[in-house]
Amino acid sequence: MPSATLDTVPGTLFYFTPPADGSEPYNRVNTDPTSTIPLSNWTPQKYTVHIENVRGKEALFTLDEAGFQYFKHPARYTSFIDDDEIKAEYYPESADLIQKITGASRVVLFDHTIRRRILGQVDMVGKRQPVKEVHVDQTASSAISRVHLHLPPSEAPELLKHRFQIINLWRPISHPAFDMPLTLCDYRTVDKENDLAAVARISPERRGETYRVKYNPQHRWKYLKGMTPEEFVLIKCFDSTKDSGVSIFTPHTAFLDPSAPEDTLPRESIELRALVFYD
Ligand code: OGA
Ligand code: FE
Repeated sequence: MPSATLDTVPGTLFYFTPPADGSEPYNRVNTDPTSTIPLSNWTPQKYTVHIENVRGKEALFTLDEAGFQYFKHPARYTSFIDDDEIKAEYYPESADLIQKITGASRVVLFDHTIRRRILGQVDMVGKRQPVKEVHVDQTASSAISRVHLHLPPSEAPELLKHRFQIINLWRPISHPAFDMPLTLCDYRTVDKENDLAAVARISPERRGETYRVKYNPQHRWKYLKGMTPEEFVLIKCFDSTKDSGVSIFTPHTAFLDPSAPEDTLPRESIELRALVFYD
């Protein structure tokens, strides 16, 4: 673990440990708060790490090296109340941003999640909360499934012959996100062969797969303290590149920042998920 410095805060993160009985790990999407079916069959393990506030040093972290990159660019659309309006207004401007930044030939947004923190509320559909476990949104295989799911059969096979990525665009809503900020693990400190565990994601619509992350003392965690709605971060979740010098994913999670101002407003954020294609 790196030593504490002026720029770091201690944060408790929840890493993966496999189910004790050797069964395949799963997480179930919480759609029914009265259900007694367990939401998962494994127990997250707590570790306290030093998390560095990189404000002023944002340029050291790029999408293809660290796996994430911070930008300052206010959104034209700022109300974030209605899902259809978000799709009509916020999706196109965000797809344009991702395309300009990455130089991709095509960007297809396929999902968004709004999180508004409510104290004591468990994460559930319609009341999504900051995420408490270190994860990557897609595994290599569920990333490819996403292309087949969201693009017609006449296009998906050709698109998959070229480089493609899954990138999230994460942005605070309405006020700075001092409360439960998002922390990202620098890809250069990840052991891509050994740190990941595929976990089934069971929802009423489909059985997907995400990665949970095993503790590794080499991991270096970063955050941008007090990120404002005028700022956003791109998070790489998948990259089909075969170039071993390029990031292919970034573990991330929310954490309770002990240095957050006491009277700060509960975190509100929106994240978009994008398929990013290249010629
Ligand atoms: C994401 C994500 C967690 C959070 O954007 O993919 O995991 O707490 N967000 O915002
Ligand atoms: Fe995520």
